[in-house]
Amino acid sequence: MSDTTLVILGATGDLTQRLLMPALYRLHRLGLTPGLRILGYAMDDWTRAHFEKHIHDALKAFAPDFSARNWNSFRKQLDYVGGRLDPADLERIKHKLTPATLFYMALPPPLFGTASQALGEAGFNVAPRGGWRRLVVEKPFGTDLASAEKLRAQMHQHWDESQILRIDHFLGKEATQNLMVFRFANRFLEPVWNSRHIAQVQITYAETLGVEKRAGYYDHAGALRDMLQNHLMQLFSLTAIEPPSCWDADVLRDHKVEVLRSVRPITARNVDEHAVRGQYRAGTVDGKKVPAYRREPGVPRGSNTETFAALRLEIDNWRWQGVPFYLRSGKRLASNCSEIAVQFHDVPGALPGGVKAQNNWMVFRMKPEQGMHLLANAKLPGLELDGHQVTLSAPYVQAGENEFSAYEQLLMDAIEGDRSHFLRFDEVEWAWRLLEPVLRHWQEGSPDFYASGSEGPSTQKRLLDRGQHWRSVSLVDGDVA
Ligand code: BG6
Repeated sequence: MSDTTLVILGATGDLTQRLLMPALYRLHRLGLTPGLRILGYAMDDWTRAHFEKHIHDALKAFAPDFSARNWNSFRKQLDYVGGRLDPADLERIKHKLTPATLFYMALPPPLFGTASQALGEAGFNVAPRGGWRRLVVEKPFGTDLASAEKLRAQMHQHWDESQILRIDHFLGKEATQNLMVFRFANRFLEPVWNSRHIAQVQITYAETLGVEKRAGYYDHAGALRDMLQNHLMQLFSLTAIEPPSCWDADVLRDHKVEVLRSVRPITARNVDEHAVRGQYRAGTVDGKKVPAYRREPGVPRGSNTETFAALRLEIDNWRWQGVPFYLRSGKRLASNCSEIAVQFHDVPGALPGGVKAQNNWMVFRMKPEQGMHLLANAKLPGLELDGHQVTLSAPYVQAGENEFSAYEQLLMDAIEGDRSHFLRFDEVEWAWRLLEPVLRHWQEGSPDFYASGSEGPSTQKRLLDRGQHWRSVSLVDGDVA
């Protein structure tokens, strides 16, 4: 990596100090980013020394492996220029750009369109011969289909799709990337990865956190926009895709889009059969009393924003015909439990001698631990021939193996120009298209309430097929069964 420049727009903000800088610092510490210069740009009229001090304090707070020695070499990579997001002010950084430069928009989402236009008007989208220019942007990409399309038009005014790297940080997680390897590198899986053997798939992202200090954003977004439209939709399409012929970014993304296009559309008339929303009331989480969403700072008292959303999706293709995929995410639930859980059908008929057998589940856990678990049946020890459920487990990362955070992984990919873990616009577009009827329907009425620290609203049951139950999110010590 010779002389690459990473320009962070919004370099004095929260994303930069909490996530980007700790990730860049670790990559530097591991010697993975030689020749990288980091140029901070923001409205604040700071000197380079002031910026360094700010980043130093941020790293002390957020980088677990901070040391004075590494800081002294990392700080040499840093630079700062203050200015507005207009072509005239951006001129100030022109002489600092190298032929290989990427721009990271760590900005409030309403600024994505104007910032990408300003960069284009300043001519920064065009690289000198032998160089490249890339633009990195993180979700949310619009708030519905129309605004996503408007944003795309603004960005495409100067930037080509191949230059734009849209981040969904879930695609940088070990657990997400493992899905692809585990699915396609194991011969035993493919013959059973279909509706003949799979009864249902549950994708859950449960959090104990509430809205925290993000009411300004969250109350306009809600769980459907914040988690399901992007993160869970990605996990869904990766669980369901056909085997790609190679890891080429476009081939992979074609396959994911194909899944989204095959989802049976939810219509204005059947939204309630496919979607449930909830909002947390007061309750107890991790032994502490917590207030209702409507009592959180910055949330309007009568807010109908959902803090929990669940969907039932069906895929109309040969592999998945008849298999319900359930996606749900909520704040202030019983525990931090995140997983993709695949349930297999019953064995055909009863076992001889009344030996008990439960359905198999394959569980890809993201939280609280990162690992895979297969729930299987084995002989119950003892004199009788009977069965009981056992869990075969494998952690994703063993002691001594190098693990990278989502931001470390994605920043490295962005610098190297590997686009496979970034979203193409049509993925974003199809995800919005699928959810449009739900968003419209939820403009009216109110969510179902659930107590903080619970499993979410009881009405989520109505999405399930007869005989199915939601897996519990009240985990005790990493329980999987
Ligand atoms: C973000 C959402 O994109 O993802 C948050 O805006 C959510 O509401 C977060 O808490 C979850 O991601 P992670 O990686 O922190 O578990």
